[in-house]
Amino acid sequence: MCGIVAVIGSREAAPLLLEGLRQLEYRGYDSAGVATVDAFEDGPGGLLTCQRAKGKLANLCELVDREGSLGQLGIGHTRWATHGKPEIHNAHPHRDECGSVAVVQNGIIENHRFLREQLELKGIPFASETDTEVIPHLIGEELKVLQSNGDLPSGSMLLDAVRKVALKLKGAYALAVIWAETPDALVVTRWQAPLLIGLGEGEFLCASDTPALAGFTRTILPMEDGEIALLTPLGIELYNKDGVRQQRNPSLLTGSNHVVNKRHFRHFMLKEIHEQPETAQLWVSRHLPLGLPVEAPVALPFEDSFYEGIERIEILACGTSRHAAMVGAYLLEQFSGIPTAVFYASEFRYAAPPLAANTLTIGVTQSGETADTLAALAMEAERRRAHGDPAFASRQLGVTNRPESSLGRQVDHILDIGSGIEIGVAATKTFLGQLLAFYALALKFASLRKSRSILEITTLTNELRDIPNQLRRLIQKHDQLSENLATRFSDTQDVIFLGRGINYPIALEGALKLKEISYIHAEGYPAGEMKHGPIALLERRVPVIAIAMPGRVFEKVLSNAQEAKARDAKLIGVAPEGPEAEVFDVLMPLPEVSEWTSPLLSVIPMQLLSYHIAFQRGLDIDQPRNLAKSVTVE
Ligand code: M6R
Repeated sequence: MCGIVAVIGSREAAPLLLEGLRQLEYRGYDSAGVATVDAFEDGPGGLLTCQRAKGKLANLCELVDREGSLGQLGIGHTRWATHGKPEIHNAHPHRDECGSVAVVQNGIIENHRFLREQLELKGIPFASETDTEVIPHLIGEELKVLQSNGDLPSGSMLLDAVRKVALKLKGAYALAVIWAETPDALVVTRWQAPLLIGLGEGEFLCASDTPALAGFTRTILPMEDGEIALLTPLGIELYNKDGVRQQRNPSLLTGSNHVVNKRHFRHFMLKEIHEQPETAQLWVSRHLPLGLPVEAPVALPFEDSFYEGIERIEILACGTSRHAAMVGAYLLEQFSGIPTAVFYASEFRYAAPPLAANTLTIGVTQSGETADTLAALAMEAERRRAHGDPAFASRQLGVTNRPESSLGRQVDHILDIGSGIEIGVAATKTFLGQLLAFYALALKFASLRKSRSILEITTLTNELRDIPNQLRRLIQKHDQLSENLATRFSDTQDVIFLGRGINYPIALEGALKLKEISYIHAEGYPAGEMKHGPIALLERRVPVIAIAMPGRVFEKVLSNAQEAKARDAKLIGVAPEGPEAEVFDVLMPLPEVSEWTSPLLSVIPMQLLSYHIAFQRGLDIDQPRNLAKSVTVE
């Protein structure tokens, strides 16, 4: 949530800041702002200018175009509102009383009320309702104290002031700070929010995420929690939380995961839906290569010892990632025979179950930055460390699309879903990537534990190898079908999604997709649960989308669908063609695949239908209201 970017170097900062923010807009788009310092030619210090605009980044770009913005030092921010409405006065950067210190922040300062009261008692006026504004005021106060000793303003002085203020902050934050008195100094620090330094040619950049840096440099230095850095045109001074100078080699960004491009598609979401066959193909070539023994056909980047002794799996995730985890749990339990439980990460943090022995904890987060998931994992690792008994030791696996994220640095093992960067706020190809990761794990556990016969393992493996082709055909067919269907449903107010067994999470995912981008109220239910209450909602104006894939609950879902139809609901089936499908008013046909692999296909009509309904309604599909791609606040 919120993207920050900062630059110091030998070029004008504003264009770099705006380009960086463009790449970070997926993190929030309630308002945007930049502040730059233009060094005086004839003396120390410079002129700090701050420009902010409500709404999308385009509004800020217009403002900067119109008014200009000078200086080779600058900071920028794109906001997802937490404290205070999305208005200009709440937009970042925020400044101190005399307007010479400017700060951008991503995160939440939990003790901001206390700090604000203290500052207000000293007579310091506040211009916003944000939690962030306390920071420039506190830094301004520290700078006054440091200057009162007679020292001249310097980068070290700013560093010192920010360090002192950081000690007073509680919560999670990443900060970039500039001061009009020091046009050659940028100070950045982080605590439980991402921040990376990019080492360019003659310039240093800093940003919340790699796409903002990738256009300028591929050499990056991810900052660790508690680190603080002073960046000048000459170099970086990096210190850990104890003030000890750090010498770390930067790393290189590899791959195309950092390049953002819509190609010929109208929206990133549509492009990402269409990229799914590629995602699956890549996954097959990485994890199901031909030539492995039939009884162990999966290639995963872990030693066999990693799997040893695991008797239980607990999965922590939020949103779409949680739906993928639910399909994963079904596979791990029903195919591989391991008791598995899925938790909302946000609930787990405050109501974790009693510790179980020999447990693998899996955190699923495409961004690797979801605050609740990271905190739940950290809390779980701590509980297990404190327990002391080796049987209860922490074993954590992260399933993510961003191995370089905070998750990557936090857990013992990472399974990179390798879906390529996803920009649309509604997750699509990363959901598929997460599902596939669980198929790999389920196959691996089943082969190690011999919970399935070689025939069953081979059958599933072969079906998975065919998924990229199935997806290719399906997406092509359903794009048009969904577009046609969407015209009939774009005025609908409520939609019910039904699924059972392995497809129940797909019903939940279908409802979430529709809500997120079309703002239509939608609910997903296990089909058998309808008659216990939700059926009261049904009437002519409430379409019911039922996922009915052949398998052990096929007939059951069809009966549940009949019950809905008997209440006048318009019935849309996501099912294979055939006589059974006659119950549906509209059929979104799927190929006949096994129940095990059906979620990989049944999710496609859900994604496409939501997309086309939102498009018909003229909505902002890639940047739906109130949402952000990475939810880095609790
Ligand atoms: O980055 P994560 O996978 O941890 O994100 C979790 C949720 O915020 C995310 O899946 C959200 O529900 C998406 N917008 C779904 O489309």
